[in-house]
Amino acid sequence: MDLEGIVSRALAAFRAARDVPSLENAKARFLGKGGELAAFRPSGSPEERRAQGAKFNAAKQTIEDALETRRKELAREKLNARLAEEALDVTLPARGRTRGSVHPVIRTWQRIEAIWRTLGFEVADGPEIETDWYSFTALNNPENHPARSMQDTFYVDLKDAGGIPLNLRPHTSPMQVRYARMHSPPIKVIAPGRTYRVDSDATHSPMFHQVECLWIDEDISFADLKGVYTEFLRRFFENDELEVRFRPSYFPFTEPSAEIDMKLKGRWLEISGSGQVHPAVVKNFGLDPERYIGFAFGSGLERLTMLRHGIDDLRLFFDGDLRFLAQFP
Ligand code: DAH
Repeated sequence: MDLEGIVSRALAAFRAARDVPSLENAKARFLGKGGELAAFRPSGSPEERRAQGAKFNAAKQTIEDALETRRKELAREKLNARLAEEALDVTLPARGRTRGSVHPVIRTWQRIEAIWRTLGFEVADGPEIETDWYSFTALNNPENHPARSMQDTFYVDLKDAGGIPLNLRPHTSPMQVRYARMHSPPIKVIAPGRTYRVDSDATHSPMFHQVECLWIDEDISFADLKGVYTEFLRRFFENDELEVRFRPSYFPFTEPSAEIDMKLKGRWLEISGSGQVHPAVVKNFGLDPERYIGFAFGSGLERLTMLRHGIDDLRLFFDGDLRFLAQFP
């Protein structure tokens, strides 16, 4: 039996084995009990047989080494195949992250602050949970005035408010009183913020936004208010020719009172309440109504936004529908 032939056949068979089972079969063929090596029988003189024994051991060692080498190769190939299959392709494009944008009403709020600041007005902020006194009484609202009724005001029942009647402010006008009691004239301030009323339809929302203005000095007039408000509207609507008119109206906290209208596409549209601050309210500011005169207005931010962008349903602002919001990038 030719040892070299066995070795070369074994090496060829191992190389040809593509997976572990075929390699184990090949191992059995050459190294197994009934395999080719086991069938080898030395022959000849004792010297010749001893020499053949040494060759046999060397051949067996070569075959075993080759088997071990091939085993390792197959294991490495298997691992590589698995790694390739499970690999994460980090170069794949990501799913994409969209960028949010500032809500159109909040953008109006920011524009309003910027414009009034350039007109020399401070910006103030105050509580949305208000006392009955600031929301109504201090503003000359008679006890039986409909604005106080349960229908349009949210009342707040706070255990630890010490029995003080509270509400979600139905307008930003309480800020006139809060600010005036903490500052001395001349006062030029706007106070934008959230307001609340039990009201909900295409043009009303239970939560909405207003901007209040208060201007107090010793020698100002309605003409001053009309001047700054017209300037504000012209800048807000980016229209230098925008027409503005004051129409007599009624509010408990102003006397005289006026509704401010602006002309848009040939139609007069109501945009704000305003007036000369009532002497009783000036007294509640802690000021002498004989000496100080005040002018005020309150405008709705949703309405300003709707007119600016031609939006006809206020509920769109609060639906959270991206098809609407994405139009204000
Ligand atoms: N507070 C009034 C409202 O919510 C709006 C208003 C009218 C505010 C006249 C004023 C004003 O400052 O002078 O309907």
